[in-house]
Amino acid sequence: MTADDKLLPESPVAGLIPTLNKTGWMTEALDDYSRDFAEYAGKIGADGDESLDIGCAYGVATLAALAQGARICACDIEPQHLAILDQRVAPEDRSRYRSTTGTLPDVDFPPASFGAILAARVLHFLDGPQIETTAGKMFEWLRPGGRVYLVADTPYTGPWYVHAERYEQRKADGDPWPGFCDDYAALLPENTDPEGHPDFINPLDPDILERVCSAAGFNIIRAGFLSSSTPGARGNEHAGVIAEKPA
Ligand SMILES: C[S@@+](CC[C@H](N)C(=O)[O-])C[C@H]1O[C@@H](n2cnc3c(N)ncnc32)[C@H](O)[C@@H]1O
Repeated sequence: MTADDKLLPESPVAGLIPTLNKTGWMTEALDDYSRDFAEYAGKIGADGDESLDIGCAYGVATLAALAQGARICACDIEPQHLAILDQRVAPEDRSRYRSTTGTLPDVDFPPASFGAILAARVLHFLDGPQIETTAGKMFEWLRPGGRVYLVADTPYTGPWYVHAERYEQRKADGDPWPGFCDDYAALLPENTDPEGHPDFINPLDPDILERVCSAAGFNIIRAGFLSSSTPGARGNEHAGVIAEKPA
């Protein structure tokens, strides 16, 4: 066991670390788009541009980006996650790191603060209007030419996968938020106390992410399904979009 392992809560599931606020798990491996964020944030960090990792948990993406020279503002709704992340940051990276507690969609940052923003696996905890507000705020927070990286859980993962067919039908019928489940507590494994869990879950797909980013003013660079990279992954567990604010 490393010193870093002692900081993180024990996990019963390979590849995932439980959150302390019942908002699922942090992945131990980066998905493809989060890996791109880490590399891009590293590149623009050399020019002094700061990047935001929001919904960062214990910093799987923040630490990877810092290791590549990024300047990172790590933000999460849960201060206990940030307290752990603060201790995980390597001494040589600390001058390029800060953390702040904040809750989407209410949190605010000054306009044109960041060169890149990552929100990995947090947007599905928001309802449709909250996601649209968030995308609009991110557009403001980015400098012209800045990039947003959004990754969300899809209807094909988590305990809500049982509603995958319903999602497909609603999508075919034109529902703008076809994965929305207002019975999240009922989907939790047997013997799970629903107290403190989210009331709803809003799994997303690449089309939704593209639509929301386009409506906010972004140009889409790439969008698609992504693998969770956990044992047994089928490749459609996450949806992602990379988009750019016009220069
Ligand atoms: C499923 S974890 C994802 C962690 C990490 N980004 C990853 O990709 O593995 C969700 C994280 O988002 C945070 N979170 C949940 N709702 C949030 C909100 N409304 N605003 C900011 N952070 C939130 C949780 O505290 C948790 O750390």
